[in-house]
Amino acid sequence: MGHSSASSREPSEFRASQVPGPSAPVDCGPLLPLSPPLCPASVYGSHSIDQVEAVLAGEVPGMVYSRLQHPNAVQLARACATLHRAAEAVVTSSGMAALALVALALGSPGQALAAARFLYGHTSVLLEEQLARWGVPVLRFDPAREEELEAVLQQRPGMLWVETISNPQLQVVDLAHLARQCRQGDVLLVVDNTFASPHVCRPLELGADLVVESLTKVLSGHSDVMLGVVCARDAQLGRQLLQACALWGWTPSPWDCWLTLRGMATAELRIRQACHNALLLARRLAQAECVRRVHYPALEGDPARRLVQTQFQDGRGGHMVTCTFAGGREQAQRFLDAAGLLVVPSLGDVHTTVSHPATSSHRQFSPQQRRSWGIEEGTLRFSVGVEPSEELLVRVHRGLQAASGR
Ligand SMILES: Cc1ncc(COP(=O)(O)O)c(C=O)c1O
Repeated sequence: MGHSSASSREPSEFRASQVPGPSAPVDCGPLLPLSPPLCPASVYGSHSIDQVEAVLAGEVPGMVYSRLQHPNAVQLARACATLHRAAEAVVTSSGMAALALVALALGSPGQALAAARFLYGHTSVLLEEQLARWGVPVLRFDPAREEELEAVLQQRPGMLWVETISNPQLQVVDLAHLARQCRQGDVLLVVDNTFASPHVCRPLELGADLVVESLTKVLSGHSDVMLGVVCARDAQLGRQLLQACALWGWTPSPWDCWLTLRGMATAELRIRQACHNALLLARRLAQAECVRRVHYPALEGDPARRLVQTQFQDGRGGHMVTCTFAGGREQAQRFLDAAGLLVVPSLGDVHTTVSHPATSSHRQFSPQQRRSWGIEEGTLRFSVGVEPSEELLVRVHRGLQAASGR
């Protein structure tokens, strides 16, 4: 028609004028860029067959295809490994992908997997519904009950899965003790450390073999990425997981890796402030008559306090607080309305958010089952943010006044 369209041009002309070809990293001169380059390429090329072969064969270090490895994932994996004092780390496309990777790459049909009774809802479903289909029997136990731990270890499971701080009861597991027991039975100890982060707890230093985290949460910290990581104490095991990750295709996006690395630069500061706010919030909730129960590992009188002091960094109790309103869901809603807090079925944002486990993380279970785990209609789980403490306490005070009808 009247204007020249791209399709009327020669293909080579179109490519040359519109799209830059393969290039070496941009030359910035002698000064270094303060943020790392983002490298979204899915594939890398060379004019030499020999060179591509050498990189594919692992004889020459380099990138070939981003499902196998890419620079932003490598950078992020190194940062996670450093924080956890791990030999190797594998970054995955989500926290669930990290858990599925461990289950499928290391589980074997017929060999049992022992898992704590209290786990994130989707982790339980992954184990009980998906893994069971692959012929892996799943044994549930309460890590706080020695006789239950001994009973599952006697069945010689290949792996034992726990969460450092359980979701949403905030039960803290004695990782050093579990690690000793697992080592005796040649059982791999796998710890989901999402609720803690390496700035609260480093399970590998306490004897765990693998640490899994959803990087979607507090380490990235701004609710804008979906990623996970597995950190391995043993380099060989880490390489095995990296290979399996490429085969199952749970590759992380370069952009999400870049954002997470940026979030991690402030993670220690954010987590320190969030832990401080969480303790103040827990103390305030514990004083309120309308609140029946408060769980916060570092709260005076909480059964987890001894482990916080011996196994967590600087006595930090984490950024999660759970409480149950005596007046049920309706009273919890009145609290939220007056406090002006958002209901968000996730955690780890810079702002304080609240989730309702009965209708989100544990919605797939029956009310009876939920009640037996301490999850009621009036239970709220706070992910505490980094706002000035005074601002948070004013909101919470307003919410508690409204909840108790004042
Ligand atoms: C303890 C825990 N582990 C794993 C996950 C899964 O992470 P993702 O949502 O990044 O897949 C979650 C998600 O909420 C979680 O709370």
